Amino acid sequence: MIGNEAVVAMETPRLRLRTFRTGDLAHLVAMNADPTVMAHLGGPMSPEASLAMAEAIQHAFLAEGIGMIAVERRADEAFLGIAGLNRLAWYPDDLEVGWRLLPAHWGRGYATEAGRAWLGYAFRRHGVARVISVADVPNRRSRAVMERLGLQLDHTALLQEGEDRFEAAVHAITRAEWERQPAS
Ligand SMILES: CC(C)(COP(=O)(O)OP(=O)(O)OC[C@H]1O[C@@H](n2cnc3c(N)ncnc32)[C@H](O)[C@@H]1OP(=O)(O)O)[C@@H](O)C(=O)NCCC(=O)NCCS
Repeated sequence: MIGNEAVVAMETPRLRLRTFRTGDLAHLVAMNADPTVMAHLGGPMSPEASLAMAEAIQHAFLAEGIGMIAVERRADEAFLGIAGLNRLAWYPDDLEVGWRLLPAHWGRGYATEAGRAWLGYAFRRHGVARVISVADVPNRRSRAVMERLGLQLDHTALLQEGEDRFEAAVHAITRAEWERQPAS
């Protein structure tokens, strides 16, 4: 299903949030194989697992607007990583917002910019009452993105992913809190 054409979900000042194109896949595989990127996400993924993940996301996004799709820099069309909405088995009644970027693109506010757009999409298009974001407690960078976006710590929980158990910080923002933000 992934080919040379992409569906653009949204554009922000610097970013284009769109479905995957064939040219993204090598970058996606490299990102998901990077131990630094995957330090809080269960460790590096094989190329096969990454490609299967991309196909599953593409399908889910086109069907229902859920899935972490490509983050492209508008200025040069570089693939920066992925961001978007997830359904998590642990929290089936909520939508989760998430982000994952190639390390070369950390520290420039791209995750925050993409995350802000996906929050708006969750509230406007999906009409949800709140959006959550789940991170490993020590995932300082991801938790900082959540805080910049106005999500607040809701609770911590011991969650199980396959064989792994990890302590998760679950952040949340309600529609009313989001509407009070100047940029919403
Ligand atoms: C989580 C992750 C996406 C965060 O990336 P990040 O670069 O720290 O976050 P942002 O893109 O929002 O950038 C914020 C940084 O850019 C700086 N910045 C520069 N320009 C900025 C701008 N216009 N707006 C906001 N921040 C800006 C901020 O000051 C901040 O710098 P700091 O790291 O020195 O505090 C990244 O670390 C990652 O991909 N990690 C691996 C995958 C992962 O764990 N994902 C989350 C799973 S829960």
